[in-house]
Amino acid sequence: MSLKKNILALRQKKAIVEKGGGDKAIEKQVAMGKMTARDRILALLDVDSFHEYDLFVEHEERNFGMASKELAGDGVITGTGTMSGAPICIYAQDFTVMGGSLGLKHARKITKIMDHALRMKVPCIGINDSGGARIQEGIGALAGYGEIFYRNTMASGVIPQISVILGPCAGGAVYSPALTDFVFVVDNISKMFITGPSVIETVLGEKISQEDLGGARVHAEITGNAHFFAMSELECFDQIKELVSLLPSSNQQKAASIEPKKPKSKKNIENIIPADAKQPYDVREVIYALSDDSKFLEVHELWAANIVIGFGRINGETIGFVANQPIYLAGVLDCDASDKAARFIRFCDAFNIPIVTLEDMPGYLPGVDQEHAGVIRHGAKMLYAYSEATVPKITVILRKAYGGGYIAMNSRHLGADFMFAWPGAEIAVMGPEGAANIIFRKEIMEAEDEDAMRQQKVQEYIEKFANPFVAASKGYIDAVIEPSETRELLIHALEMSKNKDDYRPAKKHGIPPF
Ligand code: HXC
Repeated sequence: MSLKKNILALRQKKAIVEKGGGDKAIEKQVAMGKMTARDRILALLDVDSFHEYDLFVEHEERNFGMASKELAGDGVITGTGTMSGAPICIYAQDFTVMGGSLGLKHARKITKIMDHALRMKVPCIGINDSGGARIQEGIGALAGYGEIFYRNTMASGVIPQISVILGPCAGGAVYSPALTDFVFVVDNISKMFITGPSVIETVLGEKISQEDLGGARVHAEITGNAHFFAMSELECFDQIKELVSLLPSSNQQKAASIEPKKPKSKKNIENIIPADAKQPYDVREVIYALSDDSKFLEVHELWAANIVIGFGRINGETIGFVANQPIYLAGVLDCDASDKAARFIRFCDAFNIPIVTLEDMPGYLPGVDQEHAGVIRHGAKMLYAYSEATVPKITVILRKAYGGGYIAMNSRHLGADFMFAWPGAEIAVMGPEGAANIIFRKEIMEAEDEDAMRQQKVQEYIEKFANPFVAASKGYIDAVIEPSETRELLIHALEMSKNKDDYRPAKKHGIPPF
């Protein structure tokens, strides 16, 4: 055959495989409001940048009628491309091919592109749309999942790993995402569960819809498995592009710095916190007043809203913000908030992203529910994560810093590099009311007018301890600053921290309170 004929034959062969599960299956996929696997990759990556590998890989299963089944690309598309010019490894499971189910060859295509990402030190993005282990393949499919999970773990902390859930992901299909750094879901499209509704009905006799079992909102609001929620696939892809633009390509790099921009928020930073210490406010207003162009990409926006985490830039450099959120549960720390912040802190630390902590919280949430849910174990994760982190760590105490929360929110004692406090900061073991009731109990009980005495003692406590000056007098706070000075000081502190080098004792690894 002439070269020309060979090229023509190649094109025809490619065109057939690129059709995935065929027209009917594609129609079904589109009718569900879903893009095809190939269109997803093309929409996510820079135009004309995608290069596909292993298009002609075939499964080798011979049981259960599989010998005669041709599965295009074995149900997954893998390759490399760029996102805003930065190299990316990517795979997308194709639900039109046997429900995107994972057989051994399918898995090996994924592990091959993961290995490539790890060697090339570039982010790896997985688009998941799969019914889980291919039931006909049995052990081959389970082995494939194990090999993926192993690589997710090896790559953890080395390259950013992003999972996009764009279909009914069941069984093993949800554990790889759970091992990655960020999980994206889309309303009405994403589902994640270990066992699907049909299995639940068979085993437990209970009927439940896919949506109620593990829809996008379930994971964005209740379980915390999803970090980003979008209303459409295209909105989701924009979120991914924004996130990737803020991250380094590996732990050996720093995130790209861009032209610094002043905050565009018109809010006067001095007017954000209400005069009454009991009044809430949205701490994101403070972040907008501090970050370049007032931009902030919030992570886990809909889960554990009492703490806010996410990425922004200060003076052109990527920063991880961790901030208590007074408009939700007064910004208290609880099990979920601790898990949420601790994981984020570890991500920032692994990828050389300085952490700015904004503190205003009344401490850990008291009560039987929290104690029984394990607030000791979960809360300890924050202590561990901040103590372990060696990236620049800067804290600004905006208002309340009480009790264990004061220590946990990146205090000097856990290794903060810079500690600033606004003049209205209250740093104490507990809130003035609680403190006065305990230490002046006798005087209050014996007073003629108990309420008046309580008020007097509360006031005394506020004047003596609920201010930043006691902590400042001991050197635990480096400077009591005016709110309007905060951004300039952060820029200076970050500049001063550029060559930070911190000692940690040699060990194989620590044992965090997982
Ligand atoms: C083989 C599968 C499959 C699977 C789906 N298909 N899942 N084939 N193995 N795991 C096939 C279907 O037979 C069907 O083929 C096509 O994909 C589309 O599936 P539908 O059921 O028509 O789609 P839908 O109604 O949207 O339902 C999707 C679904 C459902 C919720 C994912 O298919 C389902 O419940 N599948 C099983 C999910 C599950 O329990 N997986 C766990 C596997 S065990 P045709 O030819 O009819 O088009 C596992 C263990 C790993 O993963 C553990 C590691 C820790």
